[in-house]
Amino acid sequence: MTRKLFVTTALPYANAAFHIGHMMEYIQADIWVRFQRMQQDAAGKREVHFVCADDTHGTPIMIAAEKEGITPQEFVAKIAAGRQQYLDGFHIGFDNWYSTDSPENVELSQGIYRKLRDAGLIVTKTVDRFFDPVKGMFLADRNIKGECPNCGAKDQYGDNCEVCGSAYQPTDLVNPFSVFTGSTPILKPSEQYFFALSDPRCYTFLKEWLNTPGRLQPEMVNKVSEWLGDAGEKLADWDISRDAPYFGIPIPDAPGKFFYVWLDAPVGYLASLKNYFGKQGMDYDAFLQDPDAEQVHFIGKDIVSFHLLFWPAMLNFAQHPIIDKLKVNVHGHLTVNNEKMSKSRGTGISPLRYLDLKMNPEWLRYYIAFKLNSKVEDLDFNGEDFVARVNSDLIGKYINIASRCAGFIAKKFDGKLAETLTPKAQQWIGRALTVNGAERQANIGANFESREYGKALREIMEIADITNQYVDENKPWILAKDPEKNAELHDVCTTALILFRQLTILLSPVLPQIAARVAEFLGDAEYSWRDTSGATVYESMLGRTIFTYSHLMQRVDAKMVEALFDRPAAAAVSAPVAAVAAPVAEAAASEGIEELAPEITIDDFTKIDLRIARIVNCEQVEGSSKLLRLTLDVGEGRLRNVFSGIKSAYRPEQLIGKLTVLVANLAPRKMKFGVSEGMVLCASAADEKADPGLYVLEPWPGAKPGMRIG
Ligand code: 2FM
Ligand code: ZN
Repeated sequence: MTRKLFVTTALPYANAAFHIGHMMEYIQADIWVRFQRMQQDAAGKREVHFVCADDTHGTPIMIAAEKEGITPQEFVAKIAAGRQQYLDGFHIGFDNWYSTDSPENVELSQGIYRKLRDAGLIVTKTVDRFFDPVKGMFLADRNIKGECPNCGAKDQYGDNCEVCGSAYQPTDLVNPFSVFTGSTPILKPSEQYFFALSDPRCYTFLKEWLNTPGRLQPEMVNKVSEWLGDAGEKLADWDISRDAPYFGIPIPDAPGKFFYVWLDAPVGYLASLKNYFGKQGMDYDAFLQDPDAEQVHFIGKDIVSFHLLFWPAMLNFAQHPIIDKLKVNVHGHLTVNNEKMSKSRGTGISPLRYLDLKMNPEWLRYYIAFKLNSKVEDLDFNGEDFVARVNSDLIGKYINIASRCAGFIAKKFDGKLAETLTPKAQQWIGRALTVNGAERQANIGANFESREYGKALREIMEIADITNQYVDENKPWILAKDPEKNAELHDVCTTALILFRQLTILLSPVLPQIAARVAEFLGDAEYSWRDTSGATVYESMLGRTIFTYSHLMQRVDAKMVEALFDRPAAAAVSAPVAAVAAPVAEAAASEGIEELAPEITIDDFTKIDLRIARIVNCEQVEGSSKLLRLTLDVGEGRLRNVFSGIKSAYRPEQLIGKLTVLVANLAPRKMKFGVSEGMVLCASAADEKADPGLYVLEPWPGAKPGMRIG
């Protein structure tokens, strides 16, 4: 069999741009999808369809369009046009992005409704609704304000009080008024259509559906069981109709009535799939009937009732074949520095600002993945934690392996990896990739499958730790100095790159762009999970010629993270990058700087040959309280030894793998600890007491070892 997966994220309302909470959900689902796409089942490659759409209907969008003097369709189209930049920016690979305001959705929603009606599960009741006599329309809960019936707070919406948190009916408000005209609404009887969730059939079905293993997380089974009560006595009929004017899908045979937005929104999942299958020339109906198909929704905890009560009941009593395939994964909310994010306020980090600051989207993917598990727990984005996690794991552990070893393969072995590995190297590979005789990839795969991404990444980082230990013990930069140790150097660097490739494959659901670049550098085609098991782990690498390595990822600069947040002082600065620069400029003006040196000519300047250097190694100097020993690659086909008085400012591991600037034509200087072949540039304050810091220079991304500065 081959698993066939239809995966969705919640359809976002088309009334605002994405906030960081959307990106978290998309990243969670996208990682799962990418992991699934790497899998091979008995009958072939796993099939995955990953779709989403704009959730377009409802009063807020209708009102927003009216305010702008455009139609709701035009309003939605404007929002939809802005979506792709976020999806591309964070490498979210949906196969299709569609709309609930589509012919497919009208047909499917009305079809499901007709079947529910035929099953006797649609009932009508006449209820009193607030009506704005000036505007001539029924008012949704959020279109009415008044005083809270509980605490008396003024200016509260018709559904709940933002001051005391109590929930109530709009008719409970004291001194209610219409938000459109300010007039006092009148109560008008209106016939409404309800989905009869209180029908005992719904309870019987939901009870069984919930408890089918593998559908829901255990905490969700418990929560929904509570809602059901002991015998369904807590289930109330659900009002699925709204009166015109309403931007929505007309209810068949009910003039002037429209489906409430939450009736047609989940049907939009199917509409998007149908639209996608149509465009691809694939058979939608056959997919729905396929016993190997699964439908997997990723949603947030705030919309659970719609997905775990109404949606399965609708599908079941409409006799929709997909009901047997339905699984729902619920995640918690994203908080930012422990503050609650609000959908309507759109607070916190703007995903576009993140991208404008040229922050690497894979940093965020990794950080979010590292903090995600399969439970319905909130996830906190913390700036300092983000910087530390990315710099320590991605740069310090993972990228560092390639940056320490790839150069030697190019320079010493014409880019060719060793033909064979020594038994010692093979042992290290075994030590890194297995635990108690079992391949780690199986456990890592199981954790990706069950959305325990944090666990998967921790185990991947254990492989990186062992690999770094191997490199540290074998010191390729020392081996490279002795021509007699060439074979050993070849063995060590080949082994390190084999493990680096394994790490890349295992990380590729999280870091798709890095994985593509590594595949290019190593001359690989698309990565599959099978490449992480058995002899395929290294056999295909032996004797292979690889391409020139270029640095794959920069460290996160804490200043960038600061600039992500709206601050009162930065609010007036329009370009986000300017917000990073501003504090630096202010500091210079207020504190004063060291006096400038006498003027020089351009010829004086060109005498100094400044070059980009990569710090391939850095270590303490025994007996020195000030110095660190740097091993630098300046692209010369040899490595340089440079002593630098920066011990007070940096730990060696902070510098390894980074680029810096070297005075490359400074006469070599014989020191107590050896010869220093150049000088690394560093910034320091005029007043050392005020700021004793030393700041090593680092070029912008793209610079390569050996490039001249000038
Ligand atoms: O809460 C929301 O943002 C809704 N637009 C989610 C809809 S999910 C699905 F049912 F369409
Ligand atoms: Zn109140």
